[in-house]
Amino acid sequence: MKNKDISDQSGLKSIWTDNLANNKQPDSKALLAHLRTVHQHHAGFTEKCASTCRDKSGYNSYEWLAEIVPDIEGTRVLDLACGSGPLLKILHDRNKNLKLKGVDMCPEELALAKARMSDDAVDLFKLEAQNLTSIKDNSIDIVLCHWALTLMDPIAPVLNEVRRVLSSNGRFAALINGPMSGAPSYSDVHNLIYGYVKSKLPSYGEIDLGDPRIRSENSLNNLVSEAFPEANVSVENNIVSMEGPVSEVAETAAGFFYASFILSPDIRRKMLSELSNLLDISKQSGSLERWGRFAMPVSRLVVKK
Ligand SMILES: C[S@@+](CC[C@H](N)C(=O)[O-])C[C@H]1O[C@@H](n2cnc3c(N)ncnc32)[C@H](O)[C@@H]1O
Repeated sequence: MKNKDISDQSGLKSIWTDNLANNKQPDSKALLAHLRTVHQHHAGFTEKCASTCRDKSGYNSYEWLAEIVPDIEGTRVLDLACGSGPLLKILHDRNKNLKLKGVDMCPEELALAKARMSDDAVDLFKLEAQNLTSIKDNSIDIVLCHWALTLMDPIAPVLNEVRRVLSSNGRFAALINGPMSGAPSYSDVHNLIYGYVKSKLPSYGEIDLGDPRIRSENSLNNLVSEAFPEANVSVENNIVSMEGPVSEVAETAAGFFYASFILSPDIRRKMLSELSNLLDISKQSGSLERWGRFAMPVSRLVVKK
């Protein structure tokens, strides 16, 4: 899947980045507008990055999350913020008798999901996660959410909607960023990219996408326990990584950081060159071409209602 390069010479802009430039706290509408802009122009980028990184068992993060779904005929699964549909595809390929639904707010992402799956394999809806109007109460056995919960603000209505649509013994499982210290050099990659981004927008980082409470295990637990007071909540940690020609590894690593999309093409090239040096493992690998490795901490939140 090749992404269109839409960044003009100043990089990607939105109401959200304008607010940051003017030292204003963006509101939830500005957040949605920013995310729509990124995904409109780079549809499918999450899948491109996330499907290439694997854990020790050889699973990518979609496959790790998909483990939560049992192979029971007729299980009703909702993929919340399904993007281009990689998780739905994995589930459908594994068991054609699952009843799959996907929602996302971005039409360009949904178009990719629709193109890869037949109409009878999945029902797709253009909806915001805060208001799942087309999904009935108690109609879903498992809600999955791969790498999108961290982007949602306000988050409380999302968790309330998940609770509403889940059946009485339903489960909610989300793939989210793991603890920053969970993988070697991950914080160096983060700091390098944010260093470039902050030289353009100094408050990027202090202000970030989504509700900050999703990014720490304690506050996440509190939030989820408020929405699901009776539920059993667990968080498991894992590491996914990739190796390859260092320029490809750097591109993939940068793709996990929404912040990197606001850089102008020139600055982005400089950032990628520095990132390539950071991720270079040519000496250890003995490879003739420049070889790189990127590792990323991920967590799987599981809520049993
Ligand atoms: C990082 S991508 C993940 C896409 C897909 N789950 C995957 O992992 O490939 C985030 C997705 O969340 C969607 N999204 C973000 N906020 C949303 C919201 N409030 N309601 C619905 N979709 C949202 C975006 O449109 C985008 O497709």
